[in-house]
Amino acid sequence: MKREQWKSQLGFLLAAIGSAIGLGNIWRFSYMAYTYGGGAFLIPYLTALLTAGLPLLILEFGVGHERIGSAPLAYAKIRKNWEWLGWWAVTFVMFGIVLYYTVVIAWCLNFFLLSFNLGWGDDPNSFFFKEFLSVSGAPSEIGQIRTPIFFALLFIWLVNWVIVHRGVQRGIELANKIFMPLLFLLTAVLVFWSLSLEGAMEGVRAYLTPDFSKLSDPKVWIDAYSQIFFTLSLGFGIMIAYASYLPEKANISRNAVLTAFINSGYSLFAGFAVFSVLGFMAASQGKPISEVVSQSIGLAFVAYPKAVSLMPGGNLFGAIFFLCLVVAGLSSSISIIEAFTSAMVDKFGIKRKRLIALVSILGFCGSIIFTTQAGLLWLDIVDHFLTHYGLVVVGIFECVLVGWFFRLKVLRGHINRVSTVKLGPWWDFLIKYFVPLVLGIILSGDLYNELKKPYGGYSWTSLILIGRDWVLLTLIAAFVIASRPWRTEHHRSGGRG
Ligand code: TRP
Repeated sequence: MKREQWKSQLGFLLAAIGSAIGLGNIWRFSYMAYTYGGGAFLIPYLTALLTAGLPLLILEFGVGHERIGSAPLAYAKIRKNWEWLGWWAVTFVMFGIVLYYTVVIAWCLNFFLLSFNLGWGDDPNSFFFKEFLSVSGAPSEIGQIRTPIFFALLFIWLVNWVIVHRGVQRGIELANKIFMPLLFLLTAVLVFWSLSLEGAMEGVRAYLTPDFSKLSDPKVWIDAYSQIFFTLSLGFGIMIAYASYLPEKANISRNAVLTAFINSGYSLFAGFAVFSVLGFMAASQGKPISEVVSQSIGLAFVAYPKAVSLMPGGNLFGAIFFLCLVVAGLSSSISIIEAFTSAMVDKFGIKRKRLIALVSILGFCGSIIFTTQAGLLWLDIVDHFLTHYGLVVVGIFECVLVGWFFRLKVLRGHINRVSTVKLGPWWDFLIKYFVPLVLGIILSGDLYNELKKPYGGYSWTSLILIGRDWVLLTLIAAFVIASRPWRTEHHRSGGRG
């Protein structure tokens, strides 16, 4: 059967950008920039982008395009016994990260609806944690499923299903051709609207005033590298699958440069909306900015609703904000469903449509645990383990496999043949030595902190049973799937290079 293809390179580019821009861009980036030295944070952030993010993105695009396969197939075509690495990436994202990611999108959908009548009342903090999530005391106290979250989740999975079901061109490509312009437009409305609010400039100043002294803290650099990794969907197996749908002639490195810069540009731009609103809130409550800023979840579901309630016309503002999050989230979640499905189709030759139905149903069922009263706690633990020990480890192995067991020159030759932006030997150096070294340092730092004290104050038992074992189970699943025989002939053919 012929491999599906994008209709146009623009379609591919928008899909890659859609995967990259997600929930993480809107709150995680701005919060990091603020705490890690404002404008000065751009130095570690851009360094990480140029020395690790971009080279790895080029690698993933290059591998998918040259080997013509989803992550497991592409890796199997490099070294037969490394197929597991591809399976692990797509498995822990499909049966891990995306399960809670869709639940957060479901929260956003709820808050989108709540915006219209400011349904969170006068105390958004207690509304979010007590009424909406009704968080239990410990991960073992599952409690009940929260119905509004459950139904929103069902809807999100249905949308995911419908989009991916329609295929690469009529599903993913079309959805992103609608979602991305819509997202940029809505974000621009938010940014200009929020800049006009009273106190906005105070917020922008807090966001961007450079504090260079922060840069001497290694944590700032480590977090900058991790953020780049997550935001570019690297180590997810997604960019490999997306690039495998490109035609022979495809401008690999230019598309990578555009994806990387548009993604980071978006983060930087959206940060203006986040901080102008915080400045507005500080001004209207007569508090310093530092008191109104809060982290990730608190920012979107507590601080923002509070500001929306204070703002003239806030209903609409809130609705646009949460709609942005839903759109940004959906374009990321469809990307992993596609990457996982494409891997199964490559290996077992299963009928695509039937598989997508199954994967969506399983995904929905797997997400349900995160809609319970212990959901937030599970989310926190699973997210911590998968992003710290899944993505980073995949990244290291990916560099080792491609850098050391593949004729890297052949891959570079292939990329240069099809691309306008040419790579030099510096790229080989980054992939072979620099990126694995940096990721290795991040990993050892993480492991050290892990053992020093239990993450987030949870009990060791919950961390081991929920966090560590989730990582291990997906790894075992990857080895099991990789050990099954190929039902297609794809793995016998080579690449284009
Ligand atoms: N890059 C996204 C972000 O910044 C995260 C992401 C990409 C993602 N692909 C995904 C999350 C697939 C879940 C599933 O938020």
